[in-house]
Amino acid sequence: MKNHLLILAAALVVCACSPKQEPLTRDFDPPIMGWSSWNHFHTEISEDIIVGQADALLSLGLADAGYVYVNIDDGFTDGRGEDGRIRIDTTKFPNGMKAVADSIHARGLKAGMYSDAGDNTCASRDVKPYGLNVGLYGHELDDCKMMFDEWGYDFFKVDNCGGRHLDLNEKEQFTKIAEALAACDNKKINFNVCRWVFPGTWVIDIADSWRTTHDIWVNWDQLKTIILENMYLVAYTGNGHYNDMDMLEIGMGFKPEEERTHMACWCIQSSPMVVGCDLNNMPDYSIEFLKNPDLIAMDQDRLGIAAPVVQKEGETYVMAKDMEHFYGPKRAVVVANLGDEQTTITVDLEALGFKGKVGIYDCFKHEERPELSDSFTLTIGPHDSEAFFVTGKRIEQSVYQAEAAFMKAYTEINEQDYPVYRRPYDIPSPRVRESASAQMGYYVTELGGWDDNWLEWRNVYSKKGGEYSMTLRYACANPCNVAVSVNGNDIAALEGLTTGGDLEWQETNVKIKLQKGWNSIKLSNPDSSMPSFDSMTLRKIK
Ligand code: GAL
Repeated sequence: MKNHLLILAAALVVCACSPKQEPLTRDFDPPIMGWSSWNHFHTEISEDIIVGQADALLSLGLADAGYVYVNIDDGFTDGRGEDGRIRIDTTKFPNGMKAVADSIHARGLKAGMYSDAGDNTCASRDVKPYGLNVGLYGHELDDCKMMFDEWGYDFFKVDNCGGRHLDLNEKEQFTKIAEALAACDNKKINFNVCRWVFPGTWVIDIADSWRTTHDIWVNWDQLKTIILENMYLVAYTGNGHYNDMDMLEIGMGFKPEEERTHMACWCIQSSPMVVGCDLNNMPDYSIEFLKNPDLIAMDQDRLGIAAPVVQKEGETYVMAKDMEHFYGPKRAVVVANLGDEQTTITVDLEALGFKGKVGIYDCFKHEERPELSDSFTLTIGPHDSEAFFVTGKRIEQSVYQAEAAFMKAYTEINEQDYPVYRRPYDIPSPRVRESASAQMGYYVTELGGWDDNWLEWRNVYSKKGGEYSMTLRYACANPCNVAVSVNGNDIAALEGLTTGGDLEWQETNVKIKLQKGWNSIKLSNPDSSMPSFDSMTLRKIK
């Protein structure tokens, strides 16, 4: 957790008014890479299994490739004793949990722990009494000190089945857990919130990563849902904090082309990379995919950012992000065919952010392709992906999608089907909606009406600064108002915008001045509803 509460409090004060700075050297950790016991072994774990998988990370060369965390998930407990301490299931872990962490550390690896924000862990639903009453609620500080100071673990995944059972307010309870971690002597605890949807921007202030969806399993539709979901959460990954797309199901039965897509999409989004299979029993091609050094470099890149969709043709998505330097010559690009038919797509280099000739390096074949300009055409089989590093002369981004903007009040908690969660979050928050009428297939709606319910593009770059024409693509059935501010300065109040329908898109232009380098553009209206927004386009005037 590394004193995130303090660092982030300070960072937020700075971020509110200053544009993005390029770090000279990485000052944050990359997404974690490793293995976790849950997806294959579930609660059937033991010291022998955990240490055996740690050995496999080493013998298969996965540790050398970066997979160094060995994370124990649900299933090591046996209730809580009268002394208040968690009891360990000694049939599985006869030497206790410190001994397991010591064995993992002795192998030069890092050790991960698991708990729940409430009273019971998730497996307690099926496997009683192991997970009953072993969650953190009411024991936050004592449990954290035991796991991280006494036992010496390095990573903490905190689930929420018990939190749901007790109807806890997630923001308050996970913040309390973060405070308990900050009070530990161990200052290097990597903290993962497992709340199965994007919980809200509060999570960025307290955790290193957070799950964004329900559990992954070997099912193409489920994999596709996770990939699509994370495409519009890109604004929340950054500065060492990551959307967690869940464990890797590579080696667990997906087809090779689906594993390529799985790996490429996790890496372009800078997701944690935690393998979920039995390492001693997976196909050779899966081991090779996991060890792909180019994709790992894409995931672990020093900028630590996620990639928005820059081009979409049917069910084929082109995602691109800067690598190594913001607006530097190199970008990572993944073209994913999530459809069930073979597709041919012409990728537009301008949409990727380049002009003129580019070099293209194929991250699956590990070879340069011939240089080209303007565009390149790919034929991709169903469920398959291509991944590239593209290098060339950059142009300023001109189209910014609304769903790729930072929305302070964005949460998916009150979207889901547990009525119990609606109560504490029953306030308007923005929604990302799918529509064929929207560019790239998505737009943002239900903004405005209270102080935090705004949208901001925080990564607007101008090479030289100057005057721009900003075009907002919006829709509003009833007259709506919105204020535009640039770098914290109010620029325009657009009033009485109306388009005659919720999905009737129109455009309005505002003249703005951008400073040289990074800028932020914010749309807000604390008093009433804002229009829905699809995108913002910038054209330089002078
Ligand atoms: C789920 C979680 C899984 C696993 C499981 C353990 O809620 O999403 O990744 O940790 O609980 O019971």
